[in-house]
Amino acid sequence: MTSMKLIVGILGSPRRKGNSDILLDKALKGAAEEGAEVKKVILNDLEIKPCQGCNDCHEDGTCVQRDSLTSVYDLIETADAVIIASPIYFSGPSAQVKLLIDRCQCLWVRNELLGRYPSDAKKRKGAFIAVGGDPKAVFKHAVGEVRAFYSAIGLEYDGEILLPGVEGKGEVVSHPVALEEAERLGRRLAAPV
Ligand SMILES: Cc1cc2nc3c(=O)[nH]c(=O)nc-3n(C[C@H](O)[C@H](O)[C@H](O)COP(=O)(O)O)c2cc1C
Repeated sequence: MTSMKLIVGILGSPRRKGNSDILLDKALKGAAEEGAEVKKVILNDLEIKPCQGCNDCHEDGTCVQRDSLTSVYDLIETADAVIIASPIYFSGPSAQVKLLIDRCQCLWVRNELLGRYPSDAKKRKGAFIAVGGDPKAVFKHAVGEVRAFYSAIGLEYDGEILLPGVEGKGEVVSHPVALEEAERLGRRLAAPV
């Protein structure tokens, strides 16, 4: 018997019902239809202070800042797959996503310094959805950052949707191929191995 997978979607856009939000919802819908439990984190609704670079987490993998990220750490650590969805801002991810990534330094410590995620554990996945308004949107910086993040916290980068030329809020609804792709991504991540 296979246990139910947990798929965690993390929205990095401040726009609710914007393009990243819509694509993320499609991915989570696909995952839920595949039988997974899905959870969604709206970064913009959380009070998160940036990483202070104090390195206190090097001791035991715990961040000295006690805020709404504490429960997000738990979700990321227990997820079978994490999907980050972000708009492209100045050729990078949104500030909300960057804030999360930096504040996950403590998870890097748990993984790399404290060896808390054993290498024989099931391979957990990370995927990335990004939308840029420019038809020639540059994704490589955001992708590089998210890849480095997943690798640091022991997730295998497995799937991306990079959509250029979609600017207006919710405009992605007239891109059926991208919507289908997102749903497929969610299904695949949720499928039993
Ligand atoms: C502050 C800011 C910076 C942006 N920078 C870029 C950029 O560098 N390249 C690009 O293609 N689009 C850029 N955009 C456009 C957004 O990526 C685009 O509107 C996207 O669809 C927003 O996604 P959302 O609806 O999920 O928020 C920028 C938008 C804002 C508000």
